[in-house]
Amino acid sequence: MSGFFITFEGVDGCGKTTQRRLAAAWLREQGLDVLETFEPGDTPLGREIRRLLLHEADAPVPEAELLLFLADRAQHVRRVIAPALERGQIVLCDRYTDSTLAYQLAGRRLDAEAVTPALRLAEAGVRPHLTLWFDLPVREALARMRQREQTGEAATRMDGERQSFHEAVRAGFARLAEREPGRIRRVDAAGDVETVQRRVRSLLLPALESRGLIAGSADG
Ligand code: TYD
Repeated sequence: MSGFFITFEGVDGCGKTTQRRLAAAWLREQGLDVLETFEPGDTPLGREIRRLLLHEADAPVPEAELLLFLADRAQHVRRVIAPALERGQIVLCDRYTDSTLAYQLAGRRLDAEAVTPALRLAEAGVRPHLTLWFDLPVREALARMRQREQTGEAATRMDGERQSFHEAVRAGFARLAEREPGRIRRVDAAGDVETVQRRVRSLLLPALESRGLIAGSADG
């Protein structure tokens, strides 16, 4: 596959979606062919799964929740992500397997040993080349979420979880970043949108240069 797969991760309210959109616009200005996507819910089947997961009154038990996220991913990676990478596009995806590891394993405490083969089955060998982890103290993230709700944005079931759940998710992301420092890069998500976007670009630039996608700054 000739494309470049970048995922955007972090706790709810960390600002990754805004940053992903800005990064996509900037990459397009550089003349690059970008596909923006997200999980869960960016296929016709996935939209149904997303509704069941996040908005259905009968909350799924943790095991059902996990399998629904994986069903969404299995469809998404085969129908959307892998074809885009084969076309040579740069794929920017909001959430992927690291979210499952952080929310369903660290957050819901499902058993990693039982879950890992299913995670691998869902992602079909397609792993991110680069992951930006937007790290924000949970208290700040929750405050941002409350603000969003005031502007009328629909809250999901996850948003209503207790602070201790979101703390466990954040700790899960931190452990993943420690385990894979080459792939997962921490972005300090505190500060205004422009400041965080500068941090994003400073991480994207060398990654794109090293893959020959944009010319290195040394040679103009
Ligand atoms: P969404 O509204 O898309 O939130 P965000 O903009 O923060 O991504 O809701 C997605 C929710 O689903 C979010 O709370 C994280 C959760 N999630 C999991 O728990 N496991 C997963 O594997 C994925 C992809 C998402």
